[in-house]
Amino acid sequence: MMSFKTGLLAFLLCVSLGVFGTPGTSQAVFDTKHDNNLAFNSTFAPSSSKPDETLHLSSVGLNEFTTLTHSRFPKHQVRVKKTAFCDPTVNVYTGYLDVDEGAKHLFFYFFESRRDPDTDDVMMWINGGPGCSSSMGLLMELGPCSIDMSSKSPNGTNWNPYGWNEAANIFFLDQPVGVGFSYADFGEHIDTTEDAAKNVHAFVTIFFETFTQFAGRRLHLSGESYGGRYLPVFASEIYDQNQVAKREGRSVLNLQSVLIGNGNTGRSTLYPGRYEIECGTAALDVPVQSISNCVRMKMALPRCEKAMQEACVDRFDMINCQAAVNFCDSEISSGMWASGRNVYDISKMCVGDDLCYEENSAIKRFLDLPVTRKLLGRLGRNFGSRLDKWAVPTQYYVAGLLERGIRVLIYAGTYDWQCNWVSNKLWVDGLEWSGKKDYGNAPWKDWYVGGKKAGEVKSTPLLSFVTIRGAGHMVPHDKPEESLTMVAKWLEGQSL
Ligand SMILES: *[C@@H]1O[C@H](CO)[C@@H](O)[C@H](O)[C@H]1NC(C)=O
Ligand SMILES: *[C@@H]1O[C@H](CO)[C@@H](O)[C@H](O)[C@H]1NC(C)=O
Repeated sequence: MMSFKTGLLAFLLCVSLGVFGTPGTSQAVFDTKHDNNLAFNSTFAPSSSKPDETLHLSSVGLNEFTTLTHSRFPKHQVRVKKTAFCDPTVNVYTGYLDVDEGAKHLFFYFFESRRDPDTDDVMMWINGGPGCSSSMGLLMELGPCSIDMSSKSPNGTNWNPYGWNEAANIFFLDQPVGVGFSYADFGEHIDTTEDAAKNVHAFVTIFFETFTQFAGRRLHLSGESYGGRYLPVFASEIYDQNQVAKREGRSVLNLQSVLIGNGNTGRSTLYPGRYEIECGTAALDVPVQSISNCVRMKMALPRCEKAMQEACVDRFDMINCQAAVNFCDSEISSGMWASGRNVYDISKMCVGDDLCYEENSAIKRFLDLPVTRKLLGRLGRNFGSRLDKWAVPTQYYVAGLLERGIRVLIYAGTYDWQCNWVSNKLWVDGLEWSGKKDYGNAPWKDWYVGGKKAGEVKSTPLLSFVTIRGAGHMVPHDKPEESLTMVAKWLEGQSL
């Protein structure tokens, strides 16, 4: 989910990392009270230390952190514990990876696969923002349990039969440092995705080095929204570091693919895409925006696109790029923000808090332990001032991955306006790589779940683009069965 504006108080689902604001955009900052029924324990119980050991996860204790160190990673350690959280049918672990001499702490949840944890692939999920906790994806999208909105569940959640751990071992990571339960001791923060990638690489490496039962297992990186910026950079870091590891005779991470849902990747296509969503029929049969606003937008589009191309893409210039984005936002985005619609699903009106879903406030109540407020007082806020979103055309990373045989799935719910499917289609169509022609020639096909059309797909062996009809920004929330079907087939390398 994209969040806007600076200023934050405490924790949680999304903290703004200072993406510069858009007039009329909503504030994604949560302050919360807590009911103390979360099953993991952030009080860092004294832990048993087992240096230089490789462990089977099942030997990790319940409700007490086991600290693991590794001689090859002297600056890192993992604190992990088993927990009875969310999915009673599998082993569940939560913990921290402490990186940079223990000064930065990345929080994760790990759920074993419901099918066959000993052979199934390993997947990482992250949410976007920048600044959204992966707890949001876990508890309202693809996690093994969902937040209980009926106040009937004794433990605050309901088991999700469409959790993606039906098909993979999956961990949810709060990153960068400063987001969710992840924190830094001395208030350091991460300013750019390229910096965040180093910590994520350390995390994934030590995870596989420590839990040897997963060594060599196929690895997939998945996420949504600002994940469209994060994931190609993270995957590229993993790929590049693998080449270093190979040269030094070390084991490598078996990176297979990247999955991006309603991503924020090719920035310059964002505005023409938004126009098609609200003024065309790319999402709904009848456009939701007024004719007069649509005319105004149509007239502003060429100038917006030209300015973004020149100042943000061709020759990045911080001041001019910001000016271009401000122009585009005020001319092209303000009508949607004023409409009262849910910008993540234009078929609905915005409800609940500013992220437009009732679940958000329920999740923040559920997750906000007093101790975490203390931990999360220090947050990285410079993603905006460094223009992380615009400074590097992230699609170049995607092309680099494809050229090296890493598969990429771009999927998008069609009702999203924020990171809409049309923008994604535009940058994917234009992507410069050796398979461009084959991809261009591949046909669009309908795909089905249970005999019903779920959306459209265009595929080559390495690159697939999938739409999910009638889903918003958070596809697994809106279309759980369709999204699990898509992911399970993707992991198996089957076409939809
Ligand atoms: C968390 O750990 C502390 C310290 O060991 C312990 O006193 C407390 O009961 C634990 N809480 C939960 C919910 O496990
Ligand atoms: C929480 O309660 C729900 C509803 O009773 C149940 O289905 C689920 O398995 C429980 N979760 C855990 C972690 O015990």
